[in-house]
Amino acid sequence: MESVSWQSAHYQEPYNSQRKAKYPAKMERLGLKDEDRAAAVLDTCCGQGIALSVMHDWGFTALTGLDATPHPDWAKDGPAVIHQGDVHAMPFPDHSFDIVTNLHSLHHLGGALGVRAFVAEVHRVLKPGGRFYIIDFPGSPQIWLLFRMFRAGLYPPTGSLRNFAAIVDEEWSYKAPYLREWPAVARELHHGPLRVASLKQRFFLYYLKLVKD
Ligand SMILES: C[S@@+](CC[C@H](N)C(=O)[O-])C[C@H]1O[C@@H](n2cnc3c(N)ncnc32)[C@H](O)[C@@H]1O
Repeated sequence: MESVSWQSAHYQEPYNSQRKAKYPAKMERLGLKDEDRAAAVLDTCCGQGIALSVMHDWGFTALTGLDATPHPDWAKDGPAVIHQGDVHAMPFPDHSFDIVTNLHSLHHLGGALGVRAFVAEVHRVLKPGGRFYIIDFPGSPQIWLLFRMFRAGLYPPTGSLRNFAAIVDEEWSYKAPYLREWPAVARELHHGPLRVASLKQRFFLYYLKLVKD
């Protein structure tokens, strides 16, 4: 479960809504808009359910979410069935999903060992031929520099960068091992049980599609 202070920083308005508005374009860049609308989809670390509602708007019908921290937006009559649970031990049978997604959350799962255990679980719940889509920060020198500046208090006094710096601070206990172990984290992603189908590397984010052959 994320702390109350993490939740209040992460879901602070208007920054949460501003972040939300960017999701359709990011998810399209990832390749999700090209997927079959009847696919069984699991969004891991789904948070309040932003990605699930975008996919619902695009016409996807079999939507499931999983997150350790419950959110008030998980309405019983919402577009997806959302479960509370840990992505390292998912409450789903083998071969349940055509698509698994993990957006802006891999850095919550610790270093390389946490990512390895998660990828093994994704491999288990995916059907043969299933796809795993990820967006997150790479452990690049630019990201380290930016986050170190935030940690040193170098950010504007107000605004979205100030909010982002507060989130980085709240996440530091697991973000630091993820960034420090980045080469090993990348190895777990690129040379684990799933095959790399595409990788788009941007300045601050990577967009990765893996496939279960
Ligand atoms: C930065 S938020 C991203 C939420 C959502 N994917 C989005 O893009 O809005 C990360 C989420 O990961 C969840 N999380 C962290 N560790 C988890 C775990 N081991 N199992 C399930 N969820 C986890 C947190 O509760 C949080 O909601």
